[in-house]
Amino acid sequence: AAGPDLAGRHVVVSAGGTREPLDPVRFLGNRSSGKQGYALARTAAARGARVTLIAANTGMPDPAGVDVVRVGTAVQLREAVLKAAPDADAVVMAAAVADFRPAQYATGKIKKKDGEEPEPIVLVRNPDILAEIAKDRAREGQVVVGFAAETDDVLANGRTKLRRKGCDLLVVNEVGESRTFGSEENEAVVLGADGSETPVPHGPKEALAEIVWDLVGQRLS
Ligand code: PMT
Repeated sequence: AAGPDLAGRHVVVSAGGTREPLDPVRFLGNRSSGKQGYALARTAAARGARVTLIAANTGMPDPAGVDVVRVGTAVQLREAVLKAAPDADAVVMAAAVADFRPAQYATGKIKKKDGEEPEPIVLVRNPDILAEIAKDRAREGQVVVGFAAETDDVLANGRTKLRRKGCDLLVVNEVGESRTFGSEENEAVVLGADGSETPVPHGPKEALAEIVWDLVGQRLS
């Protein structure tokens, strides 16, 4: 493993998946376990960084030596990221953030009514946290990293997303019902705003995390 090359640095990592409540017992969510984000947090701490981990609905214990902020929804995740970002050398968004949330929250459990069709669920847009922090850099030279979960045309979609989000690095990984989400392993291509392309072969999520910190470290120095 690399030495303490991130000593004196503060990094913010988001992990897990947001849940957008419909009523007190139901939500719209996704399959993220938080493992990739926790691997990023652990490896950054091992390389000497001060780490703020913003965890959305993950079931894992807090990694040692890491400040953990727990959140539920995309709006809460945004608040926590914006609060931590001004002091960060790098922000890595590994969390799977819901693009939309239900327009209405029912304060009581939604009930089925005999003979009636269900009400459609109306959605509204959530803020794009990654695009926002990349656009309004809280600090000069701050490195902003996104992840892209794609199911098809992985590289073409990744390049478009990198430009649209305005981040410095985008880790493009292919996902499926049982692929990447929840698994101990990942496989990715890291796209750089400078045109660079770093393929990362199939392996533990820690190995991908180390490569992300190598690329962040190069951009910090
Ligand atoms: O948690 P695991 O089970 O280990 O799985 C890891 C993972 C598949 C969740 C992870 O590797 C991953 O790909 N995370 C990003 C998932 C995602 O939301 O991708 P996206 O293509 O929808 O979003 C692109 C980027 O924009 C992401 O950095 C996301 O955090 C960010 N985003 C998205 C929507 C939004 N409203 N705000 C955001 O900031």
